[in-house]
Amino acid sequence: MTLKIGWIGCGTHATQMLLPQLLRHDVEIAALCDIDGVRLARAARQFGVARTTTDAADLIATPGLDAVGMAVGPDQHLAFGKAALARGLGVFMEKPPAATAAGARELQAASEAAGRPVVVGFMKRYSVGNKIAHNIIASGRFGRVLGLTGHYMTAPGYFVGNVDYTGFFLHHCVHYMDLAAHLVSPIAALSARKIEAKPGRLLFHAAVDFACGAVGTIVMGTVQSRGTPVERIEIMGDHRRLEIEDVVEVRFHRDPPFKTDDPAATLDDAVDSLTWKPNFTAAANEDHKGYHALLADAVAALKGEQSAAPTIADGALAMTWLERLRASMGV
Ligand SMILES: NC(=O)c1ccc[n+]([C@@H]2O[C@H](COP(=O)([O-])OP(=O)(O)OC[C@H]3O[C@@H](n4cnc5c(N)ncnc54)[C@H](O)[C@@H]3O)[C@@H](O)[C@H]2O)c1
Repeated sequence: MTLKIGWIGCGTHATQMLLPQLLRHDVEIAALCDIDGVRLARAARQFGVARTTTDAADLIATPGLDAVGMAVGPDQHLAFGKAALARGLGVFMEKPPAATAAGARELQAASEAAGRPVVVGFMKRYSVGNKIAHNIIASGRFGRVLGLTGHYMTAPGYFVGNVDYTGFFLHHCVHYMDLAAHLVSPIAALSARKIEAKPGRLLFHAAVDFACGAVGTIVMGTVQSRGTPVERIEIMGDHRRLEIEDVVEVRFHRDPPFKTDDPAATLDDAVDSLTWKPNFTAAANEDHKGYHALLADAVAALKGEQSAAPTIADGALAMTWLERLRASMGV
């Protein structure tokens, strides 16, 4: 059965990333909403949607909807998410699910009370390199995870004339509070140290303890250009190491012997390193960042099917650790 979705927020992310991928699934965008009439009209044309409104309450009240999707902002995600759940509708929302952990927990409680899912857009889980690493670990081939080092840098785009790191934490850092837990195990404790190059230019190193006993270091900041690759993850095991570069390059190192003094040196399927990166010239399979895969699971969850989609429970946990992270640095 085609899922009828009402969509709120026709900004950059929705029109360039989410809606084009969502429409590849068995869905109909039944109605669109944005307070900006120009963006709304542009999106209505782009996605062929006849029913539009500038009022989110109106959108949520559209007859015949099965679910509501949204990519707006933290406060709106909380308010519109609760309104949709109150009408018995499942929800897909971009991160962050709210401006505070308490808000995210409120949504979690509303989702449980309504018996309807709230899927949160943690697509880093589905970015192809992270997905491969996760599957290798889940298969048991990696053995016990001992440590994770993760880098995620961005530029201070959200801060022009406004040195407030809230946007950086809510829109960026929240991803790694979820991803690190997804790859290793739930976060059990964290604390961070920071340095500021100048106001708005922040770098921090967070020490993370995971529930499984693994140790982690997460490095994040606003001191790199968005024009360079900014993500790198290394997962350490015992004679096993996974490296994920720029979400698309994967290296799985195992336990090979030295090669130089061995006349019969070769590459052995069982012990030598495995590497992968996508063929960017292939005119297919462009889902490297993982939005299509995330939305496949989201649609399944919203149809009431079994799904691995990240839920508001994951969102509330990520927001809780995000607040502890900020508190530990006093920013
Ligand atoms: N997962 C990711 O990789 C990723 C990437 C980018 C953005 N995002 C998230 O998506 C969300 C939107 O980001 P964006 O970059 O598209 O921002 P944006 O400002 O381009 O889009 C937001 C849209 O919401 C509209 N809007 C604001 N208030 C509204 C209201 N009350 N009712 C209806 N519409 C309203 C705005 O007019 C705008 O068109 C944010 O939460 C952001 O964190 C996620």
